[in-house]
This record gives sequence, structure tokens and C-alpha cells, in this order.
Amino acid sequence: MTKKVTLIPGDGIGPEVTAAAVRVLEASGAALEWHEHIAGTEAFERTGHPLPDELLDSIRRHRVALKGPVSTPVGQGFRSVNVQLRKALDLFANVRPVVTVPKLPARFENIDLVVVRENTEGLYSGIEHVVVEGVVESLKIITERASTRIARFAFELARTQGRKRVTAVHKANIMKLADGLFMECFHRVAADYPEIESDDRIVDNMAMQLVVYPDRYDVLVLPNLYGDILSDLCAGLVGGLGVVPGANLGEEIAVFEAVHGSAPDIAGQNVANPTALIRSGVLLLRHLGLQEEARRVHDALQAALAEPSERTRDVGGTASTTEFTDALVRRIDAG
Ligand code: NAI
Repeated sequence: MTKKVTLIPGDGIGPEVTAAAVRVLEASGAALEWHEHIAGTEAFERTGHPLPDELLDSIRRHRVALKGPVSTPVGQGFRSVNVQLRKALDLFANVRPVVTVPKLPARFENIDLVVVRENTEGLYSGIEHVVVEGVVESLKIITERASTRIARFAFELARTQGRKRVTAVHKANIMKLADGLFMECFHRVAADYPEIESDDRIVDNMAMQLVVYPDRYDVLVLPNLYGDILSDLCAGLVGGLGVVPGANLGEEIAVFEAVHGSAPDIAGQNVANPTALIRSGVLLLRHLGLQEEARRVHDALQAALAEPSERTRDVGGTASTTEFTDALVRRIDAG
């Protein structure tokens, strides 16, 4: 049966990497019907809204989307489409698997961890105002409900994937109430999972631990801001932003997107690495129950990335986005 998927190409390198991902997912034999929508600056200029209602309705109808990156104006302009989308659809868990790709040059080997980021509140609540000239207040919202829900999600993920340990990351020594509540909820939930080890780390120490001993960690659960920052750090451990996928998950809706942004410095040059979005597409196929198609893409990707001549330049190769994609499609067809 054909599965309907909302497609958001995004901007910057978004259209280049989504075109690649669509080609590769279709080559896997998956019967997907794409429903394409614009977001961000283009949507704002055309409709007056960076996140048009038609786009949200399409995702609500199909319950699954593949999303390219969308730029956010810095210091002014509309609020992040990415943050708004997650909030509007209550996509409370941002899941980013950080796994070593065999034979891909990276700082570490044998890394297999999952970053679980709370996606709906924290410092990304977007509530800020000028108190008096020269003084700005930006509110960090932490609730028992969202903290408990994300902690439970992380332990359930650990249980389903046979993982051994969940580590909460916080700054409860300074933000005693806000991060204190996040931690309290985490430890309360942990008691329901006695077979899974649980512990916590202060975020600055965690940053150091991840750079020096990343292979000691398994599942990390973090409030929004720390999750955003540390998942880019984790991407750097296994080959960079070009290779790490992600999923924004709610109770019923799932939006798959890479960790990286719109990379304006390389947009339109046909050099972006589409791997991260293609791997997000693999997560999408698995989510839809298309295990065989997912395996085909995954295996071809591992083989292509192991071959220096097929890689894009961010991971040490010379291939363009389209050359990499062509080679990947050939591998899938041959597989
Ligand atoms: P970025 O992730 O776009 O780029 C950081 C660096 O990584 C750049 O040097 C870029 O060239 C490189 N890079 C990223 N993806 C790559 C890929 N697939 N292949 C090769 N190189 C890649 O982060 P930056 O520059 O901080 O943000 C740019 C824009 O993206 C901003 O407007 C930001 O708001 C937006 N953004 C959007 C996200 C989303 O849509 N989920 C997530 C993060 C940022």
C-alpha cells in the first residue's frame, strides 16, 4: 500500500539533500507518495506565515513527514519554524542516534549512543521581553509533565533497544528549581526501570566526558538547549553534521530531519552531504514498517561511505551531492 508522506524541502542545502533523499528512498522500492510544502522565508513572503496551516494540516493528515532544514533569521524576524513545528504538533521527543559508520574517518570508533532531547519547552519557549532598556528577560519553562514524559520516553527507548544505561544531563547546581525539577522527574521515572542503570551529569562536565570518553555513554536525556548543543558535539565525534539523522516524535506524528541546519555557506553548490537526511529517511521507513526497504538503503549507505572515492568532501571525499546519490542508487539497484 502506498504511504503518504509530507515533504518539506526547506531552504539553503535543504532542496539539494531532500531531492537526494527522495531519489534514494524511491530506489529502495518503498511505495511513497510525497506531498510537498514550503516553509520559512519563502512561505513567509508568499503567504505571510513561515509555517503555513496547509503544511501543518498535511502532516496531521499523513502523520509522517520528511523535512529539510529551514533557516531562522538571527536576532530578528520570525521565530524558528523548526521550534514552532515541534511545538504545534507536540513532537516532544527529538531522537538522534549517534553511531560510528564503519571505515568512515572520525575521531572515535565504536560509538553507539542516542541523544534524546526534550523538544517543546526549556529555553526554547520563546518567551522573552525587554524589561527596561538594556535589560532583557528570557524565560526557561520546565514542567513536571514534559520532564516526566521525556524521561519515560528515554527509558522506554532503552528498554526496546536493549540498552543498558540512561544518563540525564542538567545544570541543577545553578538552576536549582528548573533543572532540579527535570532531575527529580528523571529519578522518579528511573525507579520504574530497575533493570536499566541510571545516572546524571552536569552539562559542562558532560561536554568534556563526551569529547574524551564518548564510548562510555548509551542513552542521554536532556532539556531542549543542552540537547541542541550536545547533539552537534556528538555529530562531530562520528564524522560531522553531514551524517547524523534525527526524528521528532509525538504520540502519533513523526517528522524526520537531519541534525544539521541549512548550511548557507555551501548552499547551491552541489557539495552538501545528503547522508544525514537519507539516514533520517531510513528511520522514516522503519517507522512505517518498511524494514526491508530500510535495510536496503542502510546497507548501500554503509558500503558507499566506506568507499573514499564515493564520499562527499565533508567526510574526506571529492564526490558532489549528485555523484554520491547516483552511486548510492546504483548500489541499491545492484543490491
Ligand atoms: P549548519 O548545521 O547549517 O552548518 C554548520 C556547518 O556544518 C557549516 O559549515 C555547514 O557547511 C556544515 N554542514 C551542515 N550540514 C552539512 C551537510 N549536510 N554536508 C556538508 N556540510 C554540512 O548550522 P548553522 O550554520 O549554525 O545554521 C544555518 C541555518 O540553519 C540557521 O539559519 C539555523 O537557524 C538553521 N538551522 C536549522 C535547523 C533545522 O532546520 N532543523 C537546525 C539547525 C540550524
